[in-house]
Amino acid sequence: MPDLSTTVDGLRLPNPIVIGSGPPGTNANVIGKAFDEGWGAVVCKTVSLDASKVVNVSPRYARLRTESSKEIIGWENIELISDRPFETWIGEFKQIKDKYPDRVLIASIMEEYRKDAWIEIIERCQQAGVDAFECNFSCPHGLPERRMGSAMGEDPEILREVSGWVIEAAKVPVWAKMTPNVTHIEDPTRACLEAGCQGISAINTIRSVLGVNLETLRPEPTVEGYTTPGGYSCKAVMPIALRICMEIATLMRDEFPDRSLSGIGGVESGRDVAQFILLGCNTVQVCTHVMKVGYRCIHQMLDELSAFMDAHGLGGLDDFRGHSLQYFAQHSDLVRRQAESRKAAKAESQAIRADHEWRGDDFVRQTDALSRG
Ligand SMILES: Cc1cc2nc3c(=O)[nH]c(=O)nc-3n(C[C@H](O)[C@H](O)[C@H](O)COP(=O)(O)O)c2cc1C
Repeated sequence: MPDLSTTVDGLRLPNPIVIGSGPPGTNANVIGKAFDEGWGAVVCKTVSLDASKVVNVSPRYARLRTESSKEIIGWENIELISDRPFETWIGEFKQIKDKYPDRVLIASIMEEYRKDAWIEIIERCQQAGVDAFECNFSCPHGLPERRMGSAMGEDPEILREVSGWVIEAAKVPVWAKMTPNVTHIEDPTRACLEAGCQGISAINTIRSVLGVNLETLRPEPTVEGYTTPGGYSCKAVMPIALRICMEIATLMRDEFPDRSLSGIGGVESGRDVAQFILLGCNTVQVCTHVMKVGYRCIHQMLDELSAFMDAHGLGGLDDFRGHSLQYFAQHSDLVRRQAESRKAAKAESQAIRADHEWRGDDFVRQTDALSRG
């Protein structure tokens, strides 16, 4: 049986699979359920000092299903951060830590662009006993109207300043949660790491419009006939999350080797978790899948991760963390390698015809020959 335990930024986790911030971490009851089922740690739903400013709407989710099996593969939400009072949360943080002193509770926090607000939220959560912070610099809807969330995460200079305030006040590890809605993820990542954040979490949701209802002609989710672009999550986002984690892990390997990375986005199985770890993640978070199937999926995910490790003779997570980063190269490098490979050249000459030879729908077969998987 491989050892799935890990220590990240001094935090000891029984396994690397963590509840991501959102409905699955929305109060003490459900957080307790997650610990009881065996999740490695929990990031709570994002909290702020003044919940009265947070007003949610309903419906606030819209889901994308496959035509054939009706499986949910994409999920848009326009949900804001927690609308529960901060004092209630502080009481619940204490309650959770009393009941689960050895388990890791990470407070997801978000505040306005004011130093005193960030210091107050850090100090009060810290007194309640939380083990670490995840700064939500990344919610793409609603909060940016108040210059919060991804309004900060898209601006490296603001991130550097706010991360500095947080690091000054925090006595426990701080992770900065990134928005994917930027062109170069290295810029906000570098700003947070230079300011002293111990870890990066990525990704939050992708700004999206899920679709337009062809009967009502209204975009979804429709609230009183209108909508606002929301955040996209679920299985469909995993390739984007993997790419962003790969870029962050590469930057960390080259410039910040002592920092940690928490991968998030579309994870539904232990085999998905293994891929994020292969690309350099220390922990892997799951949010939407838990909303689809409940907390018990952790058992199967742990079994699948163990089976993957057994199959490759891997005793612990450090034996393969970051292993696959070495296989990324420039496109020109792929061209060079292929030219040097007689085998590949032969395969190409048999299966793939030059573009100018394609006729009619022939490119469908040609595309197949050019694909893997
Ligand atoms: C309904 C919903 C609410 C969310 N709320 C938060 C939140 O309060 N804070 C936060 O940092 N991320 C929030 N997220 C984003 C998730 O934590 C995660 O980054 C994203 O959904 C991608 O992971 P997934 O595909 O596993 O859900 C929320 C996601 C969903 C679907």
